Amino acid sequence: MEEGKVKTKGLYIHFPFCKRFCFYCHFTKFKHDDFLEDKYINYLIKELNLRKGDYLIDTIYFGGGSPSIINKNLIEKLVNFIFKNFKISKGLEFTIEVNPEDSSSNLFEFYKNIGINRVSLGTQSFDDSDLKFLRRTHNLNDNIKALEMLKSIGFSNINIDLIIALPFQDFKSIDNSIKYIKDFDINHVSSYILEEINLDIDEKFIEDIYFYTRKRLIDIGFNHYEVSNFSKKGYESKHNLKYWTGKEYIGAGVSSSGYENGVDYKNHVDFDNYFKSLDSNNLPVLEKNEYSNDYRRIITGLRLFNGIDKRYFNNYEDILQKMIDNGFLLRENDLIRINPDYILILNEILSNF
Ligand SMILES: C[S@@+](CC[C@H](N)C(=O)[O-])C[C@H]1O[C@@H](n2cnc3c(N)ncnc32)[C@H](O)[C@@H]1O
Ligand code: SF4
Repeated sequence: MEEGKVKTKGLYIHFPFCKRFCFYCHFTKFKHDDFLEDKYINYLIKELNLRKGDYLIDTIYFGGGSPSIINKNLIEKLVNFIFKNFKISKGLEFTIEVNPEDSSSNLFEFYKNIGINRVSLGTQSFDDSDLKFLRRTHNLNDNIKALEMLKSIGFSNINIDLIIALPFQDFKSIDNSIKYIKDFDINHVSSYILEEINLDIDEKFIEDIYFYTRKRLIDIGFNHYEVSNFSKKGYESKHNLKYWTGKEYIGAGVSSSGYENGVDYKNHVDFDNYFKSLDSNNLPVLEKNEYSNDYRRIITGLRLFNGIDKRYFNNYEDILQKMIDNGFLLRENDLIRINPDYILILNEILSNF
C-alpha cells in the first residue's frame, strides 16, 4: 500500500533520567542509574510490543529528562526494535533532545548513523550569567561547541531551547541568542517563559521580553507558528505539530502522554506502577480522557497562529462571538485564530470553552 493511504502516527518516548535536577524543571525525571536505565529500556520494548499496530510511524521524538545520557548500546537496541517492529515512513522526522554538556562528535555521529535527523539542543541561553542563574552545568562555550559539532556532522535540522524572562535578564541576552541563531543558521527555536512558582517575576517584564524575543526572531526570518515555537519555512516540528492539529501519536515510557483512537492517555509517572503493569502485560496507563473532537481541536489548535476552521466552534458560537467581540480571537473567512497581542493569556481565553 502507498504511504499516503496508511494511517500515520507519531511516537514519543520519554527518558526520565537526569544526572542532576534543575530547580525550575517540572518534567518527570529520576536520578540516573545504570541498572535502572537498562531495565527501563527492556520495559519500553515490552510497552512498544503492546502498542505496535498496522500504521506508519512518521515522527519519533526522544524526550526527557535527558535522553542524551542514555547508554548508546541501549539507544541502539531500542531503535533497532522500533525499526524492526513498526512500519517507518521514508520521510521520518526523528528528534532527540540533547543536553549541551553531553555533546560529542562521537555521540552525534552515532545519532546520525541510527537515523536521528533532528536534534533539539537545550541551550537555554547564550549568556553565561543566565546559565549560572539557572545553575546549568553547561556554559556558552558548550553551546557553541555542540552547535559546531552538529553542523560539521551534517545535522541541518536543529532546534534550540531558550528560557526567557529570567529575573535580571535583559534585552542584550536575547540579542546574544539572536546573534548565535543567525551565525549557526538555526532553523527552529522553542522559547519558553520561565515557569517557577517561587520567583515573583513582574508580568510587564515577562510581556516585554516575550514580545521582544518574538520581534527579533521574526525580523531574522522566523515564523512564529505556535505560542513558544518559531521556525524557518518548512522546518516546523512535524512531531509537535501533531499535538496541535489533532493527529495521533503514541506515548511510551514513564509519564508519557499519547492520543490514539480518539482517546488521550497518560502513562504511570513512577517506575513501580509502570513496571508492574507491563509485568502483567497491561498497558501502563494511569489515566484516560475522551474529549469531544471539537473541544480538543479548539484547545490545542488555537495555540497555532494559523488558526483553525470555524466549524469546530459550531457548539460554542456564543463564547466564540464574545471572544471575537473582546478582540481575543480573530475571524478571517473560515479561520479563527488567536490575536497575537493576547497570546500570553491564551490559557485564560481557552478556559472559556
Ligand atoms: C524536558 S526539558 C529537556 C531538555 C534537557 N534535559 C535540557 O535540560 O537541556 C525541555 C525544555 O523544557 C524547558 N523547561 C524546563 N523547565 C522549564 C521551566 N520551568 N520553565 C520554562 N521552560 C522550562 C527547557 O528549555 C528545556 O530545554
Ligand atoms: S536537565 Fe533538563 S530535564 Fe533534567 S532537570 Fe534539568 S531541565 Fe529538567
